[in-house]
Amino acid sequence: MKLQAVLFDLDGVITDTAEYHFLAWKQMSDQIGIEIDREFNEKLKGISRMESLERILVHGKKVDEFTSEQREQLAKAKNDHYVSLLIHLTPEHTYPGITELLEQLREHHIPAILASASKNAPQILASLGLADKFQYIVSPDGIPGKPAPDIFLKGAEAVGADPLYCIGIEDAQAGIEAIKAAGMYAVGIGEHDLLQSAGADIVYNSTTHLNLSSLLQMAGMK
Ligand code: BG6
Ligand code: MG
Repeated sequence: MKLQAVLFDLDGVITDTAEYHFLAWKQMSDQIGIEIDREFNEKLKGISRMESLERILVHGKKVDEFTSEQREQLAKAKNDHYVSLLIHLTPEHTYPGITELLEQLREHHIPAILASASKNAPQILASLGLADKFQYIVSPDGIPGKPAPDIFLKGAEAVGADPLYCIGIEDAQAGIEAIKAAGMYAVGIGEHDLLQSAGADIVYNSTTHLNLSSLLQMAGMK
């Protein structure tokens, strides 16, 4: 088979912004008297901003304490803090192996697609100097978020790729579930057992292991 497209998650796959999301959610949660830790944070990875807030409120048993207007304010405060952390991002913050992989894909005319749930994605790609390395950036607006497959399916459709011949790369359980629901091959970046239980076909502990020849081999395995 021929590999038709590679779909990348952003936060935690291309750069370390998953950690910034955690720090910003933690500060907001502390302010409303809800404690969150890294284990709980795994359930927030890949999840949209408002749905993440909802999960935090459920976790803290405070769902009924905030009106929708107050929720908007909390989400805005979290995002303002998060965006303030992004101003330090430079191309050097791109995870190892990612820029090289994007270049290899371009040389082989295999589309690279950004399939992120983040509304901040275009700004982050610009800060990393990667904006022109992607053939298509999926906008998460108005489509169901991960673990639904829509973000990945929209990305494949945009470049005319058959999902069966696409590879998705994710650090989130919800993201791996979304890739599998889209019918694609799922590469996990992170903790082996966590991502394998979500359905990952292969898991690496770091992006250093990603390169075109390993992806082509995976594609051949299907
Ligand atoms: C995902 C992150 O990529 O984007 C989530 O894994 C985040 O943690 C989601 O909530 C939405 O991001 P943003 O930047 O639109 O708040
Ligand atoms: Mg992620």
